[in-house]
Amino acid sequence: MFYQKSKCPFFLPFEAAWQTIRLSFFKELGRILFWVDNIIFFRYNTNACNSIFMSYFEIIGGKKLNGEIEVKGAKNAALKAAAAALLSREKWIITNFPFIEDTKRILELIEDLGVKVKRFDSKVEIQADQIKKNRLDDELAKKLRASIILAGPVLARTGEVRMHHPGGCVIGKRPIDMFLDGFQKFGTKVKWENAHFRLDAKKLKGAKIFFPKVTVTGTETMMITAVLAEGETILENAAMEPEISALAEFLNKCGAKISGAGTPTIRIRGVKKIGGGKMELIPDRIEAGTFAILGALAGGKIKITKCNPDHIRSLLAHLEKAGVKIEEKKNELIVWGAKKLLPVSVATHEYPGFATDLQPPFTLLMTQAKGSSLIHDSIFESRLMFTDALNLMGAHIVMNDPHRVTVNGPTKLFGRKIVSPDLRAGITLVLAGLIAEGKTKIENIYQIDRGYEKIEERLQKLGAQIKRINK
Ligand code: EPU
Repeated sequence: MFYQKSKCPFFLPFEAAWQTIRLSFFKELGRILFWVDNIIFFRYNTNACNSIFMSYFEIIGGKKLNGEIEVKGAKNAALKAAAAALLSREKWIITNFPFIEDTKRILELIEDLGVKVKRFDSKVEIQADQIKKNRLDDELAKKLRASIILAGPVLARTGEVRMHHPGGCVIGKRPIDMFLDGFQKFGTKVKWENAHFRLDAKKLKGAKIFFPKVTVTGTETMMITAVLAEGETILENAAMEPEISALAEFLNKCGAKISGAGTPTIRIRGVKKIGGGKMELIPDRIEAGTFAILGALAGGKIKITKCNPDHIRSLLAHLEKAGVKIEEKKNELIVWGAKKLLPVSVATHEYPGFATDLQPPFTLLMTQAKGSSLIHDSIFESRLMFTDALNLMGAHIVMNDPHRVTVNGPTKLFGRKIVSPDLRAGITLVLAGLIAEGKTKIENIYQIDRGYEKIEERLQKLGAQIKRINK
């Protein structure tokens, strides 16, 4: 658009060079605009900016790590179980409960609705004999995506719910169209204004819902909502994550009638009420997978305890292909540091495929493999932007498009001052700091605290030189 293509062969190389300069200018401009957009979105949606620069991690890299690390209860199971507890008037006791920023926020949201919440060491008791409010606190709802799951039980119990558009990690657009469509199918009126929505339903009626795209929280929300709806609900093209089957199993113990959870078709026969009980959360498969990658990068020999290797089969297969030595026991994994890593390409997929939440640490692992690997995050469109930070540390990662990067390795990484953009990218930068030469400073660690309980203390026990500095 700026010039006419020349027909003279003499000018062709100059035109090619000019073309390259233009393309890289626009690529860089696009990148800058993306980050500006993200910062604005982040400010608006998470309101966590006050804490961004307050604490940071300081890491001295290069130490071999050895010893045992225990996996905590699954974040994404805890959030959904805490919300599902609102279906019952009786007490739910949830054990193996991780006290991380996201679960603290959901408990605050629940308490704010007038529900009784008691916190113990890795255990929480929730009793929703009364739900006094049906408007979710705006500031809290903006802090986590999973706040939307509360809409189902609050609607089922009170007939109305009002809430702000949910926040969460800035890893893509994260729309809520499938939630709103699903609620409408239950006979709910949906009104939307000023980033808030309002759901009204005198009575929820069983529905047939086909998810056009596999959605984890969408499946869980519709499954929970259907428990107290009248008649039968059928969810098709449902997500199959282990957190979903675990929740369905416990709901059934409390009197719900759910079959097929863990398969693409879930059937729920509505009941009038459900009871209480004690639920033990499954181990966090993303934490287990992240620690396995850490073992490959920085072990020594690391024993990962209280995990379920069956939940990370795809990752384990990819690690094996990369040449990582792993020994598997019933609830344990032993991982040895890899002397030589092979490049392995990966495409994320819904469970049981390769988890998108494990893509960032796996991408880091590939920076240490000899050769090129293609990383394709098929689920979220902004989950590879963090590779800029790895490049800043010395990696050689080329962005092909928002969903795909090529990692060229091996590259030595160097300590830098970086900002954690989101939860899984954040923990990846911690891992990167642990293998980098020199000192790494990671800011905005609220994002990391959202998903990993006292991570620096647990890593220190493996011999890591990581400190939390509170300003
Ligand atoms: N999507 C829509 N419309 C919707 C809902 C989702 O288009 O109404 C799209 C999303 O934009 C995405 C795809 O569907 O492209 C799948 O999103 P999904 O709904 O499955 O994601 P989620 O339920 O919001 C959960 C986890 C994420 C994890 C994803 C994928 C929770 C609280 N979060 O998110 O975990 O990455 O499933 O497995 O369960 C994390 O823990 O760090 C995290 C981001």
